[in-house]
Amino acid sequence: MDRDEEVALLGRTDSSKLKSRVKLAATGCALGIFAVLATVWFLDLGGFFQFDAARWVEITEDPIVSPVDRRAPVNFLALGDWGRHGLYNQSLVASQMGKIGGALEINFVVSVGDNFYKNGLTGVDDIAFDESFSRIYTAPALQKPWHAVLGNHDYHGDVFSQLDPRLGLRDWRWHCVRDAQLIFDLSPSLFRGDVDSRVSTVELFFVDTVPFIDQYWAPNQKHDFDWRDILPRHRHLQQKLENLTSALNASTASWKIVVGHHTIRSYGAHGDSVELVRQLLPILEGNNVDVYVNGHDHCLEHVKRDDSPIHFITSGGGSKAWKGISPPQNSNGLQFYYDGQGFVSFSVAESWLQIVYYNIYGEAVHKVRLTK
Ligand SMILES: *[C@@H]1O[C@H](CO)[C@@H](O)[C@H](O)[C@H]1NC(C)=O
Ligand SMILES: *[C@@H]1O[C@H](CO)[C@@H](O)[C@H](O)[C@H]1NC(C)=O
Ligand SMILES: *[C@@H]1O[C@H](CO)[C@@H](O)[C@H](O)[C@H]1NC(C)=O
Repeated sequence: MDRDEEVALLGRTDSSKLKSRVKLAATGCALGIFAVLATVWFLDLGGFFQFDAARWVEITEDPIVSPVDRRAPVNFLALGDWGRHGLYNQSLVASQMGKIGGALEINFVVSVGDNFYKNGLTGVDDIAFDESFSRIYTAPALQKPWHAVLGNHDYHGDVFSQLDPRLGLRDWRWHCVRDAQLIFDLSPSLFRGDVDSRVSTVELFFVDTVPFIDQYWAPNQKHDFDWRDILPRHRHLQQKLENLTSALNASTASWKIVVGHHTIRSYGAHGDSVELVRQLLPILEGNNVDVYVNGHDHCLEHVKRDDSPIHFITSGGGSKAWKGISPPQNSNGLQFYYDGQGFVSFSVAESWLQIVYYNIYGEAVHKVRLTK
């Protein structure tokens, strides 16, 4: 990382060469991918729009493009495993996210699941939504869209309530989906309206990984799982993988980031998810995915193995942590492991992507910089 990046991270003004205005755009080809659940964000001169199946929804609360130049056109935070009414340092993590989010002028937040402990939400009126989300992430910088996937604890409750647009009436930031693709433009050229082949994007592919995990389907499973809309399981998983494969294959993004709750590669308490190593990983590797971001293990972790081009980023430090590291029989690729609370930031430009890990004091404890 060069010195300018350090400076930018600290939030000092810096005359960036990048015309780093944020432009969130969708191109026509994106529409129809994941048709029913697709959520594509789209910034037009007049406002901030969400493409959601067949309707356009204007979200007026979101400020228009910031006039301040940023180092990267797109910045966001990723957080997982958090909703505990502020306990287990959740509130401290939230306040540090507010500071770092402000310095980076983030565009949105990604939640990698296990949004509400211990048993998801009981319904769209559940007070836990206020107590664990709205009243915790109160910093001005966090008043941005939150894009969430589901975790296994969310499935212990009423999954439909987390996906229900009525939650957006309680707190406009909340956007939870099972599977979706978000497209953000990185190329200043689009600002002049020339939508052409030079368009450069970062694309996030959200995958609901919970139904993949065999253990949750075992007859002796002690928790209830809300499998509505998932059955029959085999068909659902097959379709999900087909949809993801075609979306990834059709994508011309500069950077492809896949988001799911469960680990693929991890040295935390849960370790690898063998189901995802077998079924999801080959698709990611076959379609030039750069980064996989997950939670589930309550730690901050970076794995980059020799046998895979993918960077595995665990950001599961949203609240209860300190579960320990599983004895690494073969710690192939373990680049960084922090067992406590924290979160991760992403800054994305056409030719580089930077990931920074923060602890509960807001200190940058690990950095990953990728270039193309
Ligand atoms: C909160 O964070 C501090 C600093 O990392 C740590 O010492 C403490 O154990 C944490 N508390 C909990 C409940 O995890
Ligand atoms: C796969 O895509 C089809 C067509 O867009 C959609 O109807 C279906 O719900 C998707 N299935 C899954 C499991 O995501
Ligand atoms: C991927 O896309 C190319 C065209 O861009 C197409 O020829 C190919 O069949 C697609 N592969 C899959 C697996 O969809």
